[in-house]
Amino acid sequence: MANTILVGAQWGDEGKGKIIDVLTERADIVVRYAGGNNAGHTVWVGKQKYVLHLIPSGILRKSKLCVIGNGVVVDPVGLVSEINGLLKIGVKIGKNLVVSETAHVVLPYHRELDAQREVLKGKNKIGTTKRGIGPAYGDKAARVGLRMGDLVDAARFEEKLSRRIKENNEVLQALGAKPLSFKKVLAEYRAAGDFLKPFVANTVVLLHNAMRRGEDILFEGAQGTFLDIDHGTYPYVTSSNTTAGGACTGSGVPPHRMDRVVGVMKAYTTRVGEGPLPTENAEISDLLHGMGREFGATTGRARRCGWFDSVATRHATMVNGIDDLAVTNLDGLDTVETIKVCIAYRHGKKRYDFVPNDAEVLAECQPVYAEFEGWLTPTDKARRWKQLPPKARTYLKAIAELTGAKLAIASVGPGRDQTIFV
Ligand code: GDP
Ligand code: IMO
Ligand code: MG
Repeated sequence: MANTILVGAQWGDEGKGKIIDVLTERADIVVRYAGGNNAGHTVWVGKQKYVLHLIPSGILRKSKLCVIGNGVVVDPVGLVSEINGLLKIGVKIGKNLVVSETAHVVLPYHRELDAQREVLKGKNKIGTTKRGIGPAYGDKAARVGLRMGDLVDAARFEEKLSRRIKENNEVLQALGAKPLSFKKVLAEYRAAGDFLKPFVANTVVLLHNAMRRGEDILFEGAQGTFLDIDHGTYPYVTSSNTTAGGACTGSGVPPHRMDRVVGVMKAYTTRVGEGPLPTENAEISDLLHGMGREFGATTGRARRCGWFDSVATRHATMVNGIDDLAVTNLDGLDTVETIKVCIAYRHGKKRYDFVPNDAEVLAECQPVYAEFEGWLTPTDKARRWKQLPPKARTYLKAIAELTGAKLAIASVGPGRDQTIFV
C-alpha cells in the first residue's frame, strides 16, 4: 500500500476511524500523529461498536502494529482506561501497541485550565472537549511539558511534577479554581506510568527500522483540516497540526517517504463546538439528528450539520495534498429530495473560491449553492459502484471533481462491508 497519510478534510468526525480500519488490512503499521483523547474514532466490527480516543483504529486488526507518535498528547490515565476497556471486550493489546517516549503528557492542571479558560471566554468560548489539549500543547511549545519518558521514570517524574504543580496551582487559584493535591496526582500518574512503561519506546527508530524492512505505514489523522492550529478557523480550532504535514513532525517520518494522502469527508458537513460553518442548515441537522446520527463520539454533543462545502474541501486538498478521497455517510442523504452543494462564498460584493483566513469574515460568508437531484433510494446495501443509484453516482463524481481529487472510496454505512472501492 506504500506509506499513506489519512486526514479529515472537514471539521473532524468525517469517518476517519471506519476508513482507517478498512485500509489497515493492507498496512503493517498504523500511527496516530496528532491530537489527544479529544478524538473519538468509531469503528464497527459486525455488531460490536468500538470508540477509539488515543489508540489507533488499526488495533482491531490482528497482527498490525499500532503506534502513538511523538506528536500526540497522551492522557496516561485515559490511555490506561482505554486499554483496559478494550481488553475487557476481547481486543488483544500487548506488543502490538507502542507509545512514543517523547509524546507529551496531559496532566490534571491542563484539564482544569482548559475548563477555566472556556468559562473566562464566555460567549466567545471555543467549545473544547475539556480534555486539556490546548494547555498541554501550550506547555509543549513553552518547553515546560512532561513527556512519556518522564512519566515512566519515577524519580524524574516526581521532581518535575512537583515544580509544575506548584506553578499551575498558583494560576488556578488566581482564576478562583481549587488547587490540585500533589500527592493525589502523583499517586494516580505513578500507577498509570507503571502500567504504561512496557509500551513506551523510541518510536522514530522503530518506524525507520520498519521502513527499512519494507513495511507499509498508515498515518491516522485526528480532528480535521479546519481544526488545524495553522490552517483551521482560528481561534476555533484544536491545538495541533491535524493536516498532512503533521504526520511528518508527529512521527519522525520525513516528507519524501510519504507516498499518498487520503482525504476523508462526509457527503455533507458537520462540526461540533463553536466557530464558523458556512453551510450550516437546520433542515439537514434535524433530518440527521432525527435518524439518531451525528452525536459526538467523545462528548455526546449534537453535531452541527450542513450541506457539503466544496470550497472547504477544495482548500483541504490544497493544504494536505490530497490524492484520493473517501466519501462517507452517503446514505445520510438517501431521503433528501434536493441536495445542495456550496460552490463559492459571497461576502458583500466579494466572491471567494477559497476559505478566508479571518474566522469573522468566514462567519459572515453566504454560500453559493449548486443543486443536485436526490436519488431517494436506500444506498446502504450497495457494495459495488454500479449498485449505487445513478443520481448518487453523479453526486459523488461532482463533489470529488469540485474537491479536486480522485474518488477512491464511497461509504454507505458504518460497517466494514459497507465500503465501495471506486
Ligand atoms: P472520526 O472521528 O472521523 O473517526 O468519525 P466519528 O467516528 O467521530 O464519526 C463518524 C460516524 O459516522 C461514526 O458514528 C461512524 O460509525 C459513522 N460512519 C462512518 N461512515 C459511515 C457511513 O458511510 N454511513 C453511516 N451511516 N455511518 C458512517
Ligand atoms: P475526531 O478525531 C470533532 C473540536 C472541539 C472544539 C475544538 C477544540 O474525532 O475527528 P479541543 O478539545 O481539541 O481543544 O477542542 O475542536 N474537536 C473535534 N471536533 N472531532 C474531533 O476529533 C475533535 N477534536 C476536537 O469540539 O470545537
Ligand atoms: Mg470523531
